[in-house]
Amino acid sequence: MNDLEQLVQGAVVEFDAAPSPAELENAKARYLGRSGRVTELLKGLAALDAQAKKARGAEINQAKARIEAALNASRERLAEAELASQLQAEALDVTLPGRRRGTGGLHPVSRTIERIEAIFASMGFDVAEGPEIETDWMSFTALNNPENHPARSMQDTFYVDVKDSEGRWLNLRPHTSPMQVRYARAHAAKYAGAATMPEIRVVAPGRTYRVDSDATHSPMFHQCEGLWIGENVSFKDLKFVFIEFIRQFFETDDFDARFRPSFFPFTEPSAEIDIAFRSGPLAGRWLEVAGSGQVHPNVVRNYGLDPERHIGFAFGMGPDRLAMLRYGVSDLRQFFEGDLRFLTQFK
Ligand code: DAH
Repeated sequence: MNDLEQLVQGAVVEFDAAPSPAELENAKARYLGRSGRVTELLKGLAALDAQAKKARGAEINQAKARIEAALNASRERLAEAELASQLQAEALDVTLPGRRRGTGGLHPVSRTIERIEAIFASMGFDVAEGPEIETDWMSFTALNNPENHPARSMQDTFYVDVKDSEGRWLNLRPHTSPMQVRYARAHAAKYAGAATMPEIRVVAPGRTYRVDSDATHSPMFHQCEGLWIGENVSFKDLKFVFIEFIRQFFETDDFDARFRPSFFPFTEPSAEIDIAFRSGPLAGRWLEVAGSGQVHPNVVRNYGLDPERHIGFAFGMGPDRLAMLRYGVSDLRQFFEGDLRFLTQFK
């Protein structure tokens, strides 16, 4: 083996053994660099005569080309190895099952409220929403509550640390009844001066708050207010509308309803509405589902309407209670604990 063959083989072995691009470049410098072995050989040509120079020069150039080819091969090998290890590091196992995004569902109380809205909408009722932080006037005074009514006490109502324009503490509304006043006032204002006013027919569901907590009471609960005011709307209309609602809500005719005399400051006369299913697990038990009554003239006046002309009824019911009855849930608090094992049963 002549010296050039040895040189080429030495380079091939070193290039092949280089474990990284940096070390390959060092090896390259030893052969092809400014003072590398090939370069030294080429410098040695200067000492030869023209003919020998030509022959030896050609041989050296050939050897140099083979060394360069070996260098390129090793560069490629290292680049491929680098890519392979990078791919491995970032490997994605496309055969693994994906992480699924669970399908959501409506909360059972939301479903119940939507159901209530749909049934009343089918009877020509509008659906309204209002603020959960209320003024004292809206929550109590406009609804004919006397100044010293216990509902105004801190034991029953949550107050907010802010006062209204009359200097009274704002409250978390303890019922949806303020929505009677808000909706009717807006309606009356809209038709002020008009020759006739369309009837007011509205349901207003939403969150309500009271200082109360046990298996059937939660400090945050829901109510749905109903109001129908016209020129000749009476208790018999209330009976019809409410019984029709219950029929549709529970999808049965198999129940009795009673309107039990009661008292609310904002209605006169007033009645609690009880129903009793004639069959099923609750058969024969009277269940209270709503408060109701003919709207008190003072309240109609606070709507901005003349109680001699505009009369009608209101009711307030508890969607949470209706959801419990419809789904057979015995503890109200389960609805609000956010336990998906419970809630997903209603999807
Ligand atoms: N606001 C009453 C309550 O929270 C429920 C109620 C009773 C609403 C009679 C009414 C009504 O509209 O007419 O207990």
